[in-house]
Amino acid sequence: MTKKTPKRPLRSEAWFNDLSDPEMTALYVERYFNFGLTPEELRSGKPIIGIAQTGSDLSPCNRHHLELATRVRDGIREAGGVPLEIPVHPIQETGKRPTAMLDRNLAYLGLVEALFGYPIDGVVLTIGCDKTTPALLMAASTVNIPALAFSVGPMLNGWYQGERAGSGSVIWKARQKHAAGEIDGEQFLQMASSSAPSVGYCNTMGTASTMNSLAEALGMQLPGSASIPAPYRERSQMAYYTGERIVQMVHEDLKPSDIMSREAFENAVVVNSAIGGSTNAPIHLSAVARQLGLELTNADWERLGYEVPLLANVQPAGEYLSEDFHLAGGLPAVIGELLRAGKIPHPKAVTASGLPFEDLYKECQIQDEDVIRPLSNPLTPHAGFLNMTGNLFDTAIMKTSVINDEFRNRYLSNPDDPEAYEGTAFVFEGPEDFHKRIDDPALNITPQSVLVMRGAGPKGYPGGAEVVNMRPPAYLLKQGVTTLPCIGDGRQSGTSGSASILNASPEAADGGNLAILKDGDRLRVDLKKRQVILLVSDEEIAARRSALEAAGGFHGPESQTPWQQLFRQHVRPFSEGMILEDADKYQDIGNSKTPR
Ligand code: FES
Ligand code: MG
Repeated sequence: MTKKTPKRPLRSEAWFNDLSDPEMTALYVERYFNFGLTPEELRSGKPIIGIAQTGSDLSPCNRHHLELATRVRDGIREAGGVPLEIPVHPIQETGKRPTAMLDRNLAYLGLVEALFGYPIDGVVLTIGCDKTTPALLMAASTVNIPALAFSVGPMLNGWYQGERAGSGSVIWKARQKHAAGEIDGEQFLQMASSSAPSVGYCNTMGTASTMNSLAEALGMQLPGSASIPAPYRERSQMAYYTGERIVQMVHEDLKPSDIMSREAFENAVVVNSAIGGSTNAPIHLSAVARQLGLELTNADWERLGYEVPLLANVQPAGEYLSEDFHLAGGLPAVIGELLRAGKIPHPKAVTASGLPFEDLYKECQIQDEDVIRPLSNPLTPHAGFLNMTGNLFDTAIMKTSVINDEFRNRYLSNPDDPEAYEGTAFVFEGPEDFHKRIDDPALNITPQSVLVMRGAGPKGYPGGAEVVNMRPPAYLLKQGVTTLPCIGDGRQSGTSGSASILNASPEAADGGNLAILKDGDRLRVDLKKRQVILLVSDEEIAARRSALEAAGGFHGPESQTPWQQLFRQHVRPFSEGMILEDADKYQDIGNSKTPR
C-alpha cells in the first residue's frame, strides 16, 4: 500500500501530537500505551479508526461482529491505520423492553459523544439488528467524520417441517395457529427457533435487512456488503476490505455528508420499494437525513417510491429468505436491474467506495429470476408506501404491496368504490389492552370492524411499539378471517405482512385526533384519495377535543426510567424521524468544532 498524504491534519493529532501542549499530550498518550500501543502507532500520523461495536451477549443479532472485528482490524492495519474498538449501547430488537426503538436515540447520543470527544479520525459502523443501523448512521452524520458501515449479515435460511421459516414471519403464523388452538406452547417455541439457525440478523426482509440494504443503497457500505449471510466466508473478507477502505477514506477526507446527499436518499427510497422494505425505513431514513440538515417526508416516499415494482421475492412480501436472495445476486442484482432500466434517479451519486453508484452495480445481473424478479415480471407493480392523511392525523403510511387476496376481496372489491372501505372503529389503548380484550366475544368484533391502536407512538408508549398489526379475535380466526384493517400511531414489525396504516403523526399522546376516537365510530379509508376519515362533523371533533383537553389530555402510562421521561419530553414525531429535538442543530461537529 502506498502511503497517502492526508488532505489535512488528523483530528487525533490534537490528542497525541499537540506540540503546543506537551503536558496534555503526555497524559493522553500514556494511557493508550498501557495496553501495548507504541509511540510509532499513536504519534506518527497514522489515522485512528474507531470500530463502533454493536455486538455483545445482549445483542445476539450483532454478536458475530465481535469475531468479524478482528478482520476489520486486519484491514485497518494493512492500510496503515490504528483500530480502537468503541462499545455502543446495546440495542436488541427482540430483547429490549419496552422497545428497542426507545434506545435508538440513546445509542446515537452515546456514539456522538464517543466520536466527538475521543481521538477518532474515521469510524467503521458495525450494523445489523434493526435500530443499530440508523443509530450509527445518525451519529456518523452528526459528527461527520469519514465513516463506513459494515453489516453483520443475515442468518442462514431457517426451515420448519420442510418449509422455509423466516424470522418474524414464522412468529405471525405461529401466533395465529396458537390462537386457533392448532399448536401448543412447546410447538410455538420450536417453530420460532427454527427460523434462527445461525449467527446474524433476521433472515426476512424485515427492518434489519431493509436498513442494511439501504445503508448500501445510500453509498455508505462497500458494494455487495449488505446481503452476504453472516456465516459465509465473504462476510469476513468484506470485513477486511471495509477496514482497508476506511483508512483510505480518512486520507481522502470522504465524509458522510459527501455521500449521503439528497440524491443518495432518493436512490435509497427507490431501492426500498424494489426490495419490499420495512415500514420502519421512512422513520429511520428521515432521522439520518435530518442529522445532515435534509428533510425526507412521507410525501417524498410516496412520490419517489410508490410506483417502483417489487423485485425481491423475499418474506414477508414474497416467499424466499435472505440466503436465497444473496445467492440470486443479492442487493447488487436488484440495483443493477433498476439502473439498467433508468429507475435509479441519481446514478452518479457518490459512494464510500469512491466510485459513482452506477459504476458499482450496472453490470450486476440476477442469478435466479424466481428469487429476484426482472422488471418485466415483478411481484407487484407498485411496491412503495402510500402517504395517508385525513382528520385523524396529518400523515401515516401504508405498505400496499403486502395486501393479500383475502384482504383485497373483503375490503377492496366493491366495483363502484374499488379502492375504499368503511368500517366500525374498535379502539385499543396500547398492546396490553389489546391482548387483554381481543378474544372477548362480548366486544363483537366482526369482519366489518377496523382495529385501532393508540398510545403506541414515540411519546405514548414510549419509543413507539410495533403493535399496530393486530390479529383478529380467535373466534374470527377459526372462521377463516385472518386479517382485519388496522390503523394506529405505533409501528409494525418489518417482518409483518399486514397492510396496516401506521406511524400516524401526530400521535394520540401528542395532540393527534386518534385520541378522540370512540368505539363504534365510522371510518372511511380511501386508498385512491390517500385518506382515512372519521365520519363525524368538524364540530363534533372540536367538541371531543375540548372535552379531552379539559380532562387533562391523552397520556400513556408513567415513565419507568429516567431515559423514558427525557425521551418523552424531547422526542419529535415519527414523521420527523423520531429524532430528539434540537439534535439537528448540531451538524458537522467533528470538523467545525474542537472539543475543549
Ligand atoms: Fe435483531 Fe431482527 S431481531 S435483526
Ligand atoms: Mg422490529
